[in-house]
Amino acid sequence: MSAGLPEIDSALLQRRIDELSLITEAESPAVTRVLFSDADLRGRDYVAGLGRSAGLALRVDAVGNMFARWVGSAPDAPVVATGSHIDAIPNAGKFDGVVGVLGGISAIEALQEAGFKPMRSIELIVFTAEEPTRFGIGCLGSRMLAGAIPLEKASVLRDPEGKSLDELRGRAGLKEALDSVALPKNFYSAFVELHIEQGPLLEQQHIPIGIVQAIAGPSAYRVRITGEGGHAGAVLMPGRRDASLAASELALAVEKAAHESGSTDTVATTGKWEVFPNAINSVPCGVMLEIDLRDTCLETRDRALVLMRSASEGIAARRGVEIIWEEINADPPADGDPKTMTIAEDVSLQLGLATRRMVSRAYHDSLFMARVCPTTMIFIPCRKGYSHRPEEYSDPAHITAGARVLAGTLARLSHQPL
Ligand code: GLV
Ligand code: MN
Ligand code: MN
Repeated sequence: MSAGLPEIDSALLQRRIDELSLITEAESPAVTRVLFSDADLRGRDYVAGLGRSAGLALRVDAVGNMFARWVGSAPDAPVVATGSHIDAIPNAGKFDGVVGVLGGISAIEALQEAGFKPMRSIELIVFTAEEPTRFGIGCLGSRMLAGAIPLEKASVLRDPEGKSLDELRGRAGLKEALDSVALPKNFYSAFVELHIEQGPLLEQQHIPIGIVQAIAGPSAYRVRITGEGGHAGAVLMPGRRDASLAASELALAVEKAAHESGSTDTVATTGKWEVFPNAINSVPCGVMLEIDLRDTCLETRDRALVLMRSASEGIAARRGVEIIWEEINADPPADGDPKTMTIAEDVSLQLGLATRRMVSRAYHDSLFMARVCPTTMIFIPCRKGYSHRPEEYSDPAHITAGARVLAGTLARLSHQPL
C-alpha cells in the first residue's frame, strides 16, 4: 500500500457493476429492483457472495439490512461503516447505490490486498429500501437502524397491493421482531457513503470528488381528494365536484409554494397520481396525490408547506371537495461531520484528486446514519447529472477514484484512537 493508499481493481469493480445490473426486473440497460422482489433477493445473494469471498462476517437484521464485517484487532470498539443500497426504482440506472456497495467491497478488498490491518472493525452495510418504491417511504432500513420511525408506523406499512412489511420480510426469511433493528448507542464510530452525485456540478466543474457537508431534509405527503363522480356526458359543468381538477389546481399551488418559500433550495414535486375511477367517460370522484417537498432549511420548507396547505383549503372550499393530508415523513436535514470530511479531503489530496464540499439534494441512507454517528459522503461525477433513469453513467476512472478515496478514508477511520 504505497503511502497508505491502496489500489482498486478497477476492471473487477466494473465487471461486478455490470453483473449486478443484469439482475433486474426491467429490460437491460434499465434496472428495476424493488424491495423483496425476486431481483432484489437475487441482488442481495450476489453481494453476500462477494462478502463471503472477501472473508467478511455476514449478518442480516430483521428488516433485511445486510452487514459484512472485517473484524479488526479491537473487535469490541465502535465500528467504522460504509455502504449504500442496491434497490432501484422502476426504470433506473445501474450506479445509484450500487457504486457505494460494490465500491465499498472493492475498497475493503484493496485494503486486504495491501496488507492493511484494521484496528476498529470495518463493516459494509447494504441498506434495505433506500428507495420509497414499495412502501412509499425512503430509507426504510437506515431509518429503522437510527430508530427514526416508530415501530407502530413501520408495522402498518403496506405496499400498493396491500401486502405488509411483516408479510414480505417473513417471506424473505426475516422472522425476528422489528424492535431488534435499532442500533445501540456508539455502535458505529463513523459512516462514509460513496455515491454518484446525481447532479451536474462535479462534471461541469471537472472536480472528481465531492465531499458532502449537508443533506437536504426530505418530506412527503399523501393527499386524498374526494369529490363526486358521474357520467361524463350527462353531468353538466355547473356544480361539478371533479376531484381531478382540484388535484390539478393543488399541484400548481405546490409548484407556486416552492417558488415562494423564500429559498431557491425549496423543491416540491407532485410525482404520484391515482385517479378514481380513471375512466375517460367518468367524472373523477377521487384522487390520491403524493407530494415530495425538500429543503436544506426547515424554516423555508415549513413556509412552503403552510402555503400549500392554505391553497388546499381554498381549493376544497371553492370546488366543494374534501382534501385530507397525511404526512408520510418529514425529516430534518443532516450535516456532514467536519472531522470525517477533513479525513476524506486529506486522502483525496494525497491521491492528487481535487475536491469540493457540496450539498446533497437527494436523500441517502447517510441522512439517518448521521443521527447515530459522524457521517459524510464521497460523491463522484455522473454524466449530465442523470440519475433514476437508464442513461445514468459514471466514468470507470471516477468510480475507481471514489473507491480509492473511500479505502483510504476507512483505513484512517479504523485507526482512529479508541
Ligand atoms: C433518493 O433516491 C431520493 O429521492 O432523493
Ligand atoms: Mn435513488
Ligand atoms: Mn442512492
